[in-house]
Amino acid sequence: MDGNAVVSQEDLFTEIALLRDMTDASIAALAKCHRICLPNTTSSRAGIKALYSLYRTMISDPFSHIVWRPGRKEALYLGAFASGTMNLRATEREIKKRIDALIILKLAFQNVLNPRHLLVRKLWDSVIPREGVGYILTIGVTREAREIGVDWSGSSLLGELEDWFRAHGVAESWVDTERSNVTAVKFYQKMEYEEVSETYGNVLMKKMLSQ
Ligand SMILES: CC(C)(COP(=O)(O)OP(=O)(O)OC[C@H]1O[C@@H](n2cnc3c(N)ncnc32)[C@H](O)[C@@H]1OP(=O)(O)O)[C@@H](O)C(=O)NCCC(=O)NCCS
Repeated sequence: MDGNAVVSQEDLFTEIALLRDMTDASIAALAKCHRICLPNTTSSRAGIKALYSLYRTMISDPFSHIVWRPGRKEALYLGAFASGTMNLRATEREIKKRIDALIILKLAFQNVLNPRHLLVRKLWDSVIPREGVGYILTIGVTREAREIGVDWSGSSLLGELEDWFRAHGVAESWVDTERSNVTAVKFYQKMEYEEVSETYGNVLMKKMLSQ
């Protein structure tokens, strides 16, 4: 084959898969992609193995869903992703139960260094409904992926996650982000999310999902 051959759109689409069908190499690419898009989260700071473990756990969690659009063949990690759960507490419990002790320690260490997210999560526990809502856990699009096509855009990823929530009878989608992440706040506003609460520089948002 001609070394300069252009990778067709079809080839790229064959790489699009739910995480449940993904190989270890694909999960590693997703973990790397997460670290590029969200370098300052607790899980990214805990290292690539922690991210790999978190996504691996979510594969087997029946409440979670992951949308993964890999990058081009020569750099699958330059892709786009989103993940969410239709039962935040159950997913959090599953992660604590399944992830190995060393990774839990690394995550805990990062939480000690930067306790704000944990504190905010505790404060919002009484605000976030216990049932009937979906929660966006992560979303990220690399610059390179955005150039591949519209299916690699944040709105496409979020739309697919919201469709999955709807298909499972979930009536609301919730998300939190940092106020300083102006791009994310504007993105969610554009996607019709409304602010519910703000504390310690974090914003909690929600959107009613039409059926
Ligand atoms: C947030 C993120 C996923 C958005 O992805 P994206 O592919 O840029 O989003 P889209 O192009 O689909 O944007 C949809 C709409 O959001 C709004 N939007 C997106 N980025 C924006 C920005 N920087 N400023 C203002 N509005 C913006 C626009 O109104 C846009 O609609 P338009 O294209 O018709 O103008 C992406 O910027 C990203 O990966 N950021 C880093 C990771 C991150 O912060 N994730 C969120 C953590 S909670």
